[in-house]
Amino acid sequence: MENITVIGSGTMGNGIAHTFAQHGFKVTLVDINQDALKRAITTIAGNLDRQVKKGAIDEQLKALTLNNITTFTDLQTAVANADLVIEAATENQEIKLNLFKQLSDYCKAGAILASNTSSISITQIASVTKVPGNVIGMHFMNPVPVMKLVEVIRGYATTDAVTNIIMDLSKQLDKVPVEVNDYPGFVANRILMPMINEAIYTLYEGVAGVEEIDTVMKLGMAHPMGPLQLADFIGLDVCLAILNVLHKGFGNPKYAPCPLLVNMVTAGHNGVKTGSGFYKYTPGSKDLVVADKFS
Ligand SMILES: NC(=O)c1ccc[n+]([C@@H]2O[C@H](COP(=O)([O-])OP(=O)(O)OC[C@H]3O[C@@H](n4cnc5c(N)ncnc54)[C@H](O)[C@@H]3O)[C@@H](O)[C@H]2O)c1
Repeated sequence: MENITVIGSGTMGNGIAHTFAQHGFKVTLVDINQDALKRAITTIAGNLDRQVKKGAIDEQLKALTLNNITTFTDLQTAVANADLVIEAATENQEIKLNLFKQLSDYCKAGAILASNTSSISITQIASVTKVPGNVIGMHFMNPVPVMKLVEVIRGYATTDAVTNIIMDLSKQLDKVPVEVNDYPGFVANRILMPMINEAIYTLYEGVAGVEEIDTVMKLGMAHPMGPLQLADFIGLDVCLAILNVLHKGFGNPKYAPCPLLVNMVTAGHNGVKTGSGFYKYTPGSKDLVVADKFS
């Protein structure tokens, strides 16, 4: 396993590329958007600088890491030599199915095709390829260079050999892999999203305010961040999309997204990335200020 191609250079793609490159792998980062690739390299360089300042890595490893990453906009060229492809494009089923259809034509025989999807079925993704046994979920957490967990998701057809390779590879990245089966939300989001949804219901029903709900969960349950702040970080649009997958996948009303979440996403208040969610975010400010609507 030498050559890794990462598809999508957004929040997760740049973190995945950074992590592999820092551990000595040759990484090809591909995105349809040239600006996104430029932003990714700037972000990776900034994050490496922070690691150097903290003494976690030296200047030499920083240079080596950057040197290990090449960027492309053409998918076919970018995956031609890959031993492993990790897809981290936008969380949209049509985009992912299209990409994987192309991957099974463009990749060399034996290449492993992984997706970093938060919720889309690995079995379904695998079904559009010619090599379903080689398709697997490799669900990294945000921020990738910092978070230890990799949720390794076995699709219905994923082989033992491919699962073992991905478990071992994750350990080589200094991560802790956990193997799970492919059902809606896998494990991480099946448990996290209902908690976030319940926190939003608690606010919606007027049981308590934004800060009160987050404080109860931080101080009472020793969570590093309250569920409403975490939802803002993940993106409220992403939380809604995952809840919809759980709701549809299990057909159980307990996963129905709270109407307040639906309203906020419809209004474009998606959390940190749009500057407003349950809290408001001013560039350059680290203060956590409750959004006007809830203050
Ligand atoms: N953000 C998180 O906290 C988080 C955590 C775990 C997993 N995920 C998953 O990771 C994936 C990426 O999420 P993100 O938050 O990095 O998204 P993002 O919006 O930050 O980045 C997505 C990138 O994919 C690119 N893209 C779209 N279609 C493409 C295509 N056909 N070919 C190449 N590039 C394409 C876009 O230009 C964009 O740069 C999603 O599946 C998401 O569910 C996200």
